Amino acid sequence: MAILPICVVPESVLRQKSKKVKLIDGSIQRLIGNMLETMHAISGVGLAAPQVGTLLRVIVVGIPGEEDIVLINPEIVRRKGERLVNEGCLSVPGYFGEVKRAESVRVKGRDLNGKEIRIKASELLAQALEHEIDHLNGVLYIDRLESADKLHKIEPEIAQL
Ligand code: CO
Repeated sequence: MAILPICVVPESVLRQKSKKVKLIDGSIQRLIGNMLETMHAISGVGLAAPQVGTLLRVIVVGIPGEEDIVLINPEIVRRKGERLVNEGCLSVPGYFGEVKRAESVRVKGRDLNGKEIRIKASELLAQALEHEIDHLNGVLYIDRLESADKLHKIEPEIAQL
């Protein structure tokens, strides 16, 4: 496995629509292994294939303290509620912003063995699933800001109290 470089704005690969995976073969398994290793290496909570330069509908999510989730061809089948959250993205380094996300989502997709899985998610997992699935459609959280003043620079010199 390998740690892959992360594509950052304004790279065009982040703005394209990813293709469905038709066959889960060795190359897809390798891609997923590398995505998981990369996500852990940079302490990300989630990663979508376009962020490592591959336009395929594959995402991984790793909520700290929980088992990693791998989803191939994920789809949101239901969104419920609305809430404001602060969000960042590995492909938009140095910034975070306030966006509206669902309170909960239901997502379906396939696992590494091609088996259909369904996930009911809320809180950070729901946010991560919406964020990563957006990546598969060329959408970034900065597109979902209500206004430009909702985007903030991360300033590490400011005390985190
Ligand atoms: Co992102």
